[in-house]
Amino acid sequence: MFVPAEKVSMTLGERLSAAVGVRSDRSVEAARNRGAAEGTRDADRSGPPGVRVRDLSVVYRTAAGELPAVSGIDLDLPPGTITGVVGESGSGKSTLALSLLNAVQPPGRIRSGSVEIDGLGDVTRLRGEDLRRARGRHIGYVFQAAQNSLNPLKTVGKQLLDLGRSHEIRDLRGLVRDAKDLLGRMGMDGARVLDSHQHELSGGMRQRVGIMFALVLNAHLVVLDEPTTALDMITQATILRIVREVHEERGLTTFIITHDLGVVAEVADRLAIMYGGRVVEQGPTTEVLGAPRHPYTQGLIRAIPRLVGDLGEARALPGRPPTLGTVPSRGCVFRERCDLRMDVCETEEPPTVPYGEWIVACHAVAARDAETREEKA
Ligand SMILES: Nc1ncnc2c1ncn2[C@@H]1O[C@H](COP(=O)(O)OP(=O)(O)OP(=O)(O)O)[C@@H](O)[C@H]1O
Ligand code: SF4
Ligand SMILES: [Mg+2]
Repeated sequence: MFVPAEKVSMTLGERLSAAVGVRSDRSVEAARNRGAAEGTRDADRSGPPGVRVRDLSVVYRTAAGELPAVSGIDLDLPPGTITGVVGESGSGKSTLALSLLNAVQPPGRIRSGSVEIDGLGDVTRLRGEDLRRARGRHIGYVFQAAQNSLNPLKTVGKQLLDLGRSHEIRDLRGLVRDAKDLLGRMGMDGARVLDSHQHELSGGMRQRVGIMFALVLNAHLVVLDEPTTALDMITQATILRIVREVHEERGLTTFIITHDLGVVAEVADRLAIMYGGRVVEQGPTTEVLGAPRHPYTQGLIRAIPRLVGDLGEARALPGRPPTLGTVPSRGCVFRERCDLRMDVCETEEPPTVPYGEWIVACHAVAARDAETREEKA
C-alpha cells in the first residue's frame, strides 16, 4: 500500500513575473464546470470542494512540553482553485498539510480548530474507517519526501492494485489504464514503471509516481507537499504544467507546498505565506507577488536570485526563522527580523487586515491603513 498516512516519516524574479502573466487568463469557473460534468470513477463526486480552515492550532510534544507548530490559522481554499503555500523551513507548512488530512501523528496533535471540507465535514473529527476512506478517495496527497515512501518489496503496479482494492475500486483495469496515462503524461513509460520496484526508479521518477498515486483515485482535493523537489528545473516545469492541466480537466481543489516562489507563481491562483506557524499574508497570487504588503513577503521576494541583470540585487533576509522552542508566544513572530518593528509588535498579535480576498497580518500595515483612511476623511 502506497504512503499510508499513518506510516509516513515527516521528515527568480524573471521566472516569477513571466509566470504571473501566464496564469491570469485561466478560468477557474470553466474548470469547476468541467469537473462537475466529467464522469469519474468516484460515484459520489460533485465538483471541487471548498475547504475552510478555522483557528487551527497544532502542537508537538517536546522535552519542554507541548509547543505550537501551527497557531490560529484561518485559511480558505475556494473550490476549483490552486492554493500555494510558501515559507522558510520549519514555518509549519507540512504540519498544516497533514492537518487537512487529519494525519498529524504523535508526538503531534491538532489542539484546536477545524478543517471543513465540502462533502466530508470537519475532518479533524473523522476517525477510523471514515478517515481512511477520506484519504485517497476524497483527498489525494503527496507527502514531503514521497520519493522515499514506496514499498521497496512490491512493484509500483502491485502497490497500485493494493491501493485500488483498499478503496474498493471495481474497475482495476481502468485504474491501471489511468495510472499509465498519468505516468505517460509525466514523460515516463507507464508499463515499465508499473513493473518496477522502488530501487529501479530515480528520485525524480519516484516523485512523479507519488504524484500519480495522488491523482489516480480521482480525489476532489489534492494536497501536494513539495512534489517537485527531486526534479531538475525543466522536468519540474513540465510536471507543474501537468498538475495544472489535470487540476483543470478534473475540476480539483489543489493545495501545493513549496519553498520556491517561482514554482508558486507558475502554478497557483492563490498564495499563503507562512512564518512561525502563522499565515502572515494570503490572497490572489498575482496581487501578493506583484505588490506584497507584509514585510516578510517583501523580504522573501527581495531574496530571489536574479537570473540576468544585476546579480547582486538579491538581498537575503537577515537572521533565521524561529524554531518550535524560540517562536515568541506573544506579539509578532517575525519581529526579530523586521525593519518596521514597533513597540506593539512585542506584545500584541498582529491584527488581520482584509483587502477583499487579500489578508495581511501586520501592525505596521494596519497602522498605515488607518492613517490613509484618516487622511481621506
Ligand atoms: N514530529 C515532530 N516532533 C517535534 N517537532 C516537530 C515534528 N514535526 C515537525 N516539528 C516541528 O514543527 C515545526 C513545523 O514543522 P513543519 O515540518 O511543519 O515545517 P515545514 O514548513 O514543512 O518545514 P520544511 O520546509 O523544512 O519542510 C518545526 O519547528 C519542526 O521542527
Ligand atoms: S507586526 Fe510588527 S514586527 Fe510584525 S511584520 Fe508587522 S511591523 Fe514587523
Ligand atoms: Mg515540510
